[in-house]
Amino acid sequence: MRLVLRIGGSVIASPINPALISNYANLLKDLKKQGHEIAVVVGGGAIAREFINLAKDLGLDERVQDEAAISVSRIFALLFLQKLGELGCEAVSLTIEDAVKSLREGKIAVMGGLKPGMTTDTVAALIVKQANAELFIKATDQEGIYNKDPRKHADAVKLDHLSYEDLSQVFAEDKHKAGIHQILDPEAVKILRKRRVKVIVVNGFKPENVLSAAKGEKVGTLIA
Ligand code: UTP
Repeated sequence: MRLVLRIGGSVIASPINPALISNYANLLKDLKKQGHEIAVVVGGGAIAREFINLAKDLGLDERVQDEAAISVSRIFALLFLQKLGELGCEAVSLTIEDAVKSLREGKIAVMGGLKPGMTTDTVAALIVKQANAELFIKATDQEGIYNKDPRKHADAVKLDHLSYEDLSQVFAEDKHKAGIHQILDPEAVKILRKRRVKVIVVNGFKPENVLSAAKGEKVGTLIA
């Protein structure tokens, strides 16, 4: 299967979790050996947001704030790629075309951010689109998608399954702001929705959830 895995910076980088990064690298090597074609997109998490705040405090505009966050995500991508050894692409992909090329050449493509004004969710969705991938997995800091924000509402209920149409109702914010944290970026959803790609949102702190998602087992929240 051709799949794109988006690992939240909130999972591997907030705080930095070397053991988890290594686990993910091993897991991806296993998935690759099982015959899957894989692209991974990582975010910069809390450190990226520290740099966004630094740029803000320096009076620098949102474009620069975004650029700083993108640079941080690419550092994580660089280290992640090194952990993949010869199964990984030659260098961190800086464009969607690069990532798709690596994927086609049978390497695991690794990418961070792409350009200001978007999130790594959208970067991953663009790879899905360009590579015609069948599955998008988001490894995030919650068990899946809830009917309302579980950080704000104790009675929020996790949804096992929802349609693209239902999904639009759970988003609070649809304008880009540097460092915004949402379970899935609505911009990315728009791209995925057009292609009706299968999306699975899982708790990324348990990498085995990603294996389950790739195997088609019931885990997290399925959007289809
Ligand atoms: P993300 O929100 O995509 O990264 O990017 P993350 O840390 O993995 O996020 P979680 O874990 O899902 O919350 C962080 C910020 O980096 C900038 C944006 O400001 C974004 O909010 N960014 C990222 C870009 O401007 N362009 C990109 O292509 C990627």
